[in-house]
Amino acid sequence: MTDITDIGAEIARRRTFAIISHPDAGKTTLTEKLLLFSGAIQMAGAVKARGEQRRARSDWLKVERERGISVSASVMSFEHDGFAFNLLDTPGHEDFSEDTYRTLTAVDSAIMVIDAAKGIEEQTRKLFEVCRLRDVPIITFVNKMDREARDPLELIDEIEQTLALDVTPAAWPIGMGRHFRGCYHVLDDRMVLMDRGDRSSINDASFSVTGLDDPTIGEHLPRDQWQELKDQVTMVRELCPAFDLQAYREGHMTPVFFGSALNNFGVRELLEGVGRLAPSPRRQPATPRDVAPDEDKVTGFVFKIQANMDLKHRDRIAFVRLCSGHFKRGMRLLPVGSTKAVNVSAPVMFLAQDREIADEAVAGDIIGIPNHGTLRIGDSLTEGEEIRFTGIPSFAPELLRRIRPEDPMKAKHLGRALEQLAEEGVAAVMKPRITSSAWVVGVVGSLQFDVLADRIRTEYGIPVSYETVEAYAARWVSGDPAEMKRFADNNVSALSDDHTGRPVFLARNAWHLNRTVEDWPKLKFDKVKNQV
Ligand code: G4P
Repeated sequence: MTDITDIGAEIARRRTFAIISHPDAGKTTLTEKLLLFSGAIQMAGAVKARGEQRRARSDWLKVERERGISVSASVMSFEHDGFAFNLLDTPGHEDFSEDTYRTLTAVDSAIMVIDAAKGIEEQTRKLFEVCRLRDVPIITFVNKMDREARDPLELIDEIEQTLALDVTPAAWPIGMGRHFRGCYHVLDDRMVLMDRGDRSSINDASFSVTGLDDPTIGEHLPRDQWQELKDQVTMVRELCPAFDLQAYREGHMTPVFFGSALNNFGVRELLEGVGRLAPSPRRQPATPRDVAPDEDKVTGFVFKIQANMDLKHRDRIAFVRLCSGHFKRGMRLLPVGSTKAVNVSAPVMFLAQDREIADEAVAGDIIGIPNHGTLRIGDSLTEGEEIRFTGIPSFAPELLRRIRPEDPMKAKHLGRALEQLAEEGVAAVMKPRITSSAWVVGVVGSLQFDVLADRIRTEYGIPVSYETVEAYAARWVSGDPAEMKRFADNNVSALSDDHTGRPVFLARNAWHLNRTVEDWPKLKFDKVKNQV
C-alpha cells in the first residue's frame, strides 16, 4: 500500500463485504473468481480449469499457513477498477459457527449466492436474518445458470416472499442450462455474452446497446431468443420495482445478478456492481456517540479471535474492523474498559496482492492484532476515548450438550479452558447454577462440538466427552433485580451463567420455553445478546 494522504478518498473507495450462501451454492468458486478478476490470483491460460482452480485454492491455503492463521480466518483484500475490496470469509459449511454470524457485523454489505436450481436454502435464510439485524445491504447472485435452473421469475418471487425484501433484476438471463447465452443488463442496457470455451480466463463479450431493440443484439442472438428476451425484460420491468439505490443501501431491496461462477460468467458484472452500488464504510453505532469513518482518531472493534496455529505460544489474533482514523503500524490502542494499551507493532494485514505487511489502514479495513488473550470479542479499541461499539451480538446456541473431562480431577482445568474458548467465540459455555452439574456447551453447527473437543484435547491436554442434556433452547434472561431473584429462586434447575456471568435460561422443550416467557412477563428472554 502506498502512503495514504487523502483519507476521505481512501474511505470512499473501500468496499468491505462478505458472501453468504448455503453450502454448495458456489461461494468458494465465486471467491476464487473474484480474486482472479482482480488479479490477486494469476491463472495460466491454457491449463485445464479444475486443476488450476485447485492449485489456486491450495496456494491460498499456503499463504494463510505462512502467516500462521487458518483459512477460516481469511480476509482477502484486493483492488479492482479503483476500488479497494475487503472480502471477509464467513465459514458457512459444516463448521458453521457464531464466528460466521459475527463476521457479518464487520461488513458494510454482502453478496448472497443462490443456486439457480435450489433457490433460498436454510443457511442462506439464517445468514440473511443476521444481515437484517443491521440492515446490511445485499446484492444477490444467482449462480449455476449453466445448469438446468428454475424460472428466474419464480426465483425472484421466492426471494421476495421468503426474505420479505423488494427484489429487482440488475441483469436478466438469456436462456438457461445448455441454452444459457448470457445476460441483458437491465440497469445499464448492456449485453454480456458467455464464452464457454475457456474457464481460466475472462473473455466474455460485453457491449453496450441502446435498448432491447438495438439491431446489434440480432447479430448475436437468433430472432426467437431475441424476441423472448424483449418480452421477458419488458414484463419484469413492469412486475418488479425499479432499482432504488437508497432502498438497497438501507437493506430493503436487493438487485439480482445471474451467472455461473464456474464459467467465469457474470463475476465481473457482480464485482462492478459491488463497486458501484455497495456502500463505503459508514457511521458505526456506539455509545455514548456514533463514530464517523473520517474522524481523525483511530477506533475499531474486535469481531473475531483466532487461535494461532502455533500451539506452543498460545498466541491469538484479534481481528479488528477499523471504524475511523488513519491506522499506522506501531500505534498504541486502548481496549476500552482496560487501562493497558496494546502496542500494535506487528499487525497482520490481509493484502492478497502484495503480500508485504502493510503499514497503514483506514475505516473499513481489517487488521489482525496478535496478543496473548488481552483482547476479547466485542472489545472496542480507541486512542483513549471511552467509546463502545454496540451491536456485536452473541446468538443463542441452537445445539446444547453437557461436557465432562474424562479425568474428573481435571474439572477445574476444563473450566478455565472453556472460558478461554468461549472468549474466542468457539462455543457458548454455561455453568449451571446447581453446582454439582457439569458445564453445558452450546453451538450453532454440530461440527463445532468436534472442533471444541479436539481443541481442548490438543491445546489444553484434557480429553473430554459429551452427554446429551435435556435442553431445547437457551435464552439470556434479564430484568428488574428483584424479579430476577424471584425467577432464580423458582427456576434454579433451569438456570446457568455464561462465561461473562450473564444468566441463561435453559428450556427443556418448546412448551417449557413458552410457558416460562408467559409466566414472567416482566423479564426479557433474548435470543441475541448485544455486547455492552
Ligand atoms: P460452496 O463454497 O458454496 O460450498 O460451493 P463451491 O464453490 O465449493 O461449489 C460447489 C460445487 O458447485 C462445486 O462442484 C463447484 O464446482 C460447483 N459450481 C460452482 N459454481 C458453479 C457454476 O456456476 N456452475 C456449475 N455447473 N457448477 C458450479 P463439486 O463437484 O462439488 O466440487 P469439485 O469437486 O468439482 O471442486
